[in-house]
Amino acid sequence: MLRRRPEGWEAEKADVYIDGNRIVGVGQEPEGFQPDRVLAAADKLVIPGLINGHTHNYMTLFRNSADDVPFEEWLFQRVMPREDRMTPEDAYWGALLGIMEMLRTGTTCFNDMQMHIHQTAQAAADSGIRAVIGRGLSGTTAAAGSGETGDAADAGGSRRLREAIQELERWQDHPRLRFTIAPHAPYSCDAGYLQRAAEEAEKRGLRLHIHLSESVSEVENLRKETGLSPIAYAEKLGLFRVPAIVAHCAQVDAADIRILAENHVSVATNPASNMKLGNGFAPVPEMLAAGVNVCLGTDGAASNNSLNLFREMGLVTLIHKGNTRTATAVSAEDALDMCTIRGARALGLEEELGGIEEGKKADLAILNLREPQLMPWNNKVSALCYSANGSEVETVLVDGEILLENREFKTIDAERVYFEAQRRAERLGEKTL
Ligand code: NI
Repeated sequence: MLRRRPEGWEAEKADVYIDGNRIVGVGQEPEGFQPDRVLAAADKLVIPGLINGHTHNYMTLFRNSADDVPFEEWLFQRVMPREDRMTPEDAYWGALLGIMEMLRTGTTCFNDMQMHIHQTAQAAADSGIRAVIGRGLSGTTAAAGSGETGDAADAGGSRRLREAIQELERWQDHPRLRFTIAPHAPYSCDAGYLQRAAEEAEKRGLRLHIHLSESVSEVENLRKETGLSPIAYAEKLGLFRVPAIVAHCAQVDAADIRILAENHVSVATNPASNMKLGNGFAPVPEMLAAGVNVCLGTDGAASNNSLNLFREMGLVTLIHKGNTRTATAVSAEDALDMCTIRGARALGLEEELGGIEEGKKADLAILNLREPQLMPWNNKVSALCYSANGSEVETVLVDGEILLENREFKTIDAERVYFEAQRRAERLGEKTL
């Protein structure tokens, strides 16, 4: 198993004892422990379940359907029209497909932004995975106060916020689900609406989840309008009074990084998505050096096109070494931290998740080490980051429950999900292709 010591990750031979949904012992059997099930893990590696710091899970339905086009075309002509046509049922099956992909590659918790809280929550609840869910919000100030009397966009913004609150209230007592308030971005929400979202988060003790500084044009446009970078603008509006997870930060400067560090903002970096949409490289080495909590996300399958954190761990180390011409820029240990303990910290779940420790939740992935790409057994953290591809994951537990065993789903009817995903994706795409 892999254990996080203060000085770094360590591989050791040790049994992990689970009672209910928690780890009750590591290496030392708790007194009077009577297992009703033993999972043999010789020649295997037990790791903490990985945490996907930023995704749009149901966008698996748009996978491989909007590629090799400019960012604006990708967002406004390919993705948004499809998303507008989605029915709640589409969202449910898309979310389940994403959950399957994540479980198969060792992810046990994901931080999601999307338009259908209820269906995503239902898919997470049905499958047994852990999720942090935020309704993607867009709108204007008039929306916040004026209810149904504003213009169409305003009424939409007001309705979206109201629905977000209603839906999260409906699910808030679920043991594996948490919620965020998730205004989409400064170019889809005006200042007043962003502030209203932050106030709502503050009032409810929730985190804020938002996209900031993703593309050069976003930064340039906001600077023209306000004289501020998206990060400085968010700070000025008071958004960082609330604990926040900011996706991307691909285009931030030294002043922005100072603001992020001072306000204890967590950043979810999405290396594949940023490269694929031509948005560049987030200054991850500089953010880490400044003490910013950086976690790792896949973004949605429309812009990646994979929800596999193993690929992301490889990328986040390699691209920054290459981009900064510094072989020590981001290490394998950093990458593993980003999708375990740093991901947990970003979500405010540091006490519960992100490590194999007594008292934490039993969210674990078990990898088969007898694979050619992992032999011979040298540094296991290097193996995870530079050699593994995720297919080595055999068994996954969330909250002490086995959801994947020997690569078979225990809670999901895989064939049904493939059937539903295929026919729904075909319907959603047919008007634009
Ligand atoms: Ni995103």
